[in-house]
Amino acid sequence: MSWDPRQYLAFAGHRLRPVLDLLARIPAEDPSFVADLGCGAGNGTKILRETWPNARIAAVDSSPEMLERARQESPDIEWTEGDITKWDPDTKVDVLFSNAAMHWLDHHETLFPALLGHVKPGGYFAVQMPANFREPSHSLIEEVALDGPWRAAIEPLIKDPPTKEPGFYYELLAPRVQDLDIWKIQYQQIVEGYDPVAEFTKGSWLPQFLEPLEEPQRSDFEAEYRRRLREAYPKQADGKTIFPFHRLFIVAKA
Ligand SMILES: C[S@@+](CC[C@H](N)C(=O)[O-])C[C@H]1O[C@@H](n2cnc3c(N)ncnc32)[C@H](O)[C@@H]1O
Repeated sequence: MSWDPRQYLAFAGHRLRPVLDLLARIPAEDPSFVADLGCGAGNGTKILRETWPNARIAAVDSSPEMLERARQESPDIEWTEGDITKWDPDTKVDVLFSNAAMHWLDHHETLFPALLGHVKPGGYFAVQMPANFREPSHSLIEEVALDGPWRAAIEPLIKDPPTKEPGFYYELLAPRVQDLDIWKIQYQQIVEGYDPVAEFTKGSWLPQFLEPLEEPQRSDFEAEYRRRLREAYPKQADGKTIFPFHRLFIVAKA
């Protein structure tokens, strides 16, 4: 999927908040090597640099568009275009950080233990993933997908929520780590502007479902999704919209 950093960063404040909440729970004082997997446009990586000014920071992402934006932000970070599933650092890291990226990847049951293997004993594995897939912002994409002439093209893209329940990650990680913290937050994101929920998902989860479609189906699909979203997320009296959003956090001490 191609990424549009401008669309993604239109909600930079809401997208940065979980970065700060995850970071606040990592008790590493002066790590020497930190990795940011799925670093995107680098807005979170920049905060890692500010938090740990002495650390070597390696940031990996598969999107050239996002990395181009990231490189402009902070030159003193090792930006690498690559696939997280193939990441093989030259030495183990003190902190493995990943915000809003692991839900793009399958097979957490093998991926997470493999990534944990790249963390030094006593180091931290810290992951945040959206967990909003059963809420209208995401479920309406599937609903509309199954309810129009585009169904054959899009149905194969529909899959189970990529972020599993906390118990799944507990069973997977608890036997492998010294200490494990898992929590889930539902942010009450206050958003504004034209179709703000659609604009939010258009910066992240929606494009993969639009890309396979030709016009006019692409525009028709998006218009129908936007119409249903407006009903699901009505405006408040002042014209703003409350967009509740669940996120799952994991901090494990290796
Ligand atoms: C929602 S963005 C999050 C970016 C950043 N971490 C942040 O908090 O703003 C997800 C990022 O994961 C990247 N990504 C998805 N699958 C990937 C993979 N297999 N390997 C590397 N990066 C991947 C995408 O390119 C995208 O930049």
